[in-house]
Amino acid sequence: MALTWTWYLVSRHPDVEARLHAELDRALHGGSPAAADLVQLPYTEMVVREAMRLYPPAAGFAREPIEDVTIGGYTVPKGSLVTVNTYALHRDPRFFEEPERFNPERFAAGWEDRTPRYASLPFGGGPRVCIGNGFAMMEARLILATVARRWRLTLEPGQAVVPMQLVTTRRRDGIRMPLHRRYERDHEPVALG
Ligand code: HEM
Repeated sequence: MALTWTWYLVSRHPDVEARLHAELDRALHGGSPAAADLVQLPYTEMVVREAMRLYPPAAGFAREPIEDVTIGGYTVPKGSLVTVNTYALHRDPRFFEEPERFNPERFAAGWEDRTPRYASLPFGGGPRVCIGNGFAMMEARLILATVARRWRLTLEPGQAVVPMQLVTTRRRDGIRMPLHRRYERDHEPVALG
């Protein structure tokens, strides 16, 4: 889901796509990315983080207090269901300027210092934060770099892309996107890795 929304957003923002391709061409010299290359791909990471802000794959999560607790002036009785709507939180203008805009620059180096600690929660937070966080970010960046290095994905016309929240944020029936080679075979920088 993280990558579906990433490609959907990239296809609709040619400026972001061009910058992503430029970074991949510059850093990978035509080869397939390996984990060691990720440090050279900061923009690729910014794109994934910004896509997960607008379309958090885990749209929310829940907690149940084991005793009565006061949160922000509200008394929450023991046993209540408390839900955190990550999707709404990530689009709150108090924390993200022009929240509806897809702008990977928000996640340029130092974003953690510019953003309130619990404003960005694609992997949850606190003691039960996702234990797959680092692994998921690594594979998302590697897959995006591996594919986007050679392919462009465009949005097939005539689709109403409306997000649906069913534990994860998805579009019913998926999103159809044909692939286009970025290079003619003769000009491919390297053979398939
Ligand atoms: C983009 C990918 C992923 C997203 C968006 C994601 C999101 C989340 C979120 C929001 C939570 C917290 C749920 C809560 O607080 O109630 C969570 C927990 C968890 N995630 Fe992930 N996750 C991802 C990938 C992974 C991967 C790859 C693994 C394992 C390799 C994983 C394993 C777990 C586990 C075990 C927990 C429960 C941790 C606990 O309760 O102590 N996740 N994930």
